[in-house]
Amino acid sequence: MKTRLQLFELNDVPKGLDYKEIKKILREIKDEQGPVQVNGNDLFFKKGEAWSHNSKEELLYQYRWLKKSRRIDGISVPKPFVFFKIGDIGGYIMEKINGKTLEELINVNKTHIIKNLSDIFKQIKTGIHILHKNGIPHGDIDPKNILLDNNGKVFLIDPYKHENTIIGKLDDRKKLIEMEKFFASIKDK
Ligand SMILES: Nc1ncnc2c1ncn2[C@@H]1O[C@H](COP(=O)(O)OP(=O)(O)OP(=O)(O)O)[C@@H](O)[C@H]1O
Ligand SMILES: [Mg+2]
Repeated sequence: MKTRLQLFELNDVPKGLDYKEIKKILREIKDEQGPVQVNGNDLFFKKGEAWSHNSKEELLYQYRWLKKSRRIDGISVPKPFVFFKIGDIGGYIMEKINGKTLEELINVNKTHIIKNLSDIFKQIKTGIHILHKNGIPHGDIDPKNILLDNNGKVFLIDPYKHENTIIGKLDDRKKLIEMEKFFASIKDK
């Protein structure tokens, strides 16, 4: 039986691919979240939890947040490509960032973080400030949701929709303060 593929939103097609190929690839996508190699393109598949109305809404929010953020100067987020559902699997495909989350770096290369702490936090703060000015807070600032690429550039991923923008902004500020305190403390450990 052929599984029906629904493309909800298509943003852009990765370089070297066309729409038809994208459709073919989506049909073959594996059932778990993670990196996917597509015709030499390094992409990342973000999967919804059991595909319910809620998970679709949450994920669609993320996809649109990424799209909006890409249009803002000074914001670095992965480029989202396509939002889709096939059978029970649903989610979106985005650019893969070559690097590590701050959480991973604490475990694998703490010295790198400590050495670059002020630059890393400068980038995070500027990013949050610009997002707030544009009315799209991140909403889930966390060492797991901040990627540092191999050139030391900070990327924000995995945003969360709060019921209103003010709450999202307050949440970002609170988490930023907590995170700064935590990272200041790892220096001494
Ligand atoms: N575009 C990307 N490029 C590279 N790695 C990514 C990308 N998006 C996500 N990841 C990796 O996958 C992990 C999980 O992604 P994400 O935070 O979006 O999902 P999650 O299901 O909320 O996971 P968690 O609960 O761990 O935050 C990230 O911590 C990061 O390691
Ligand atoms: Mg996350």
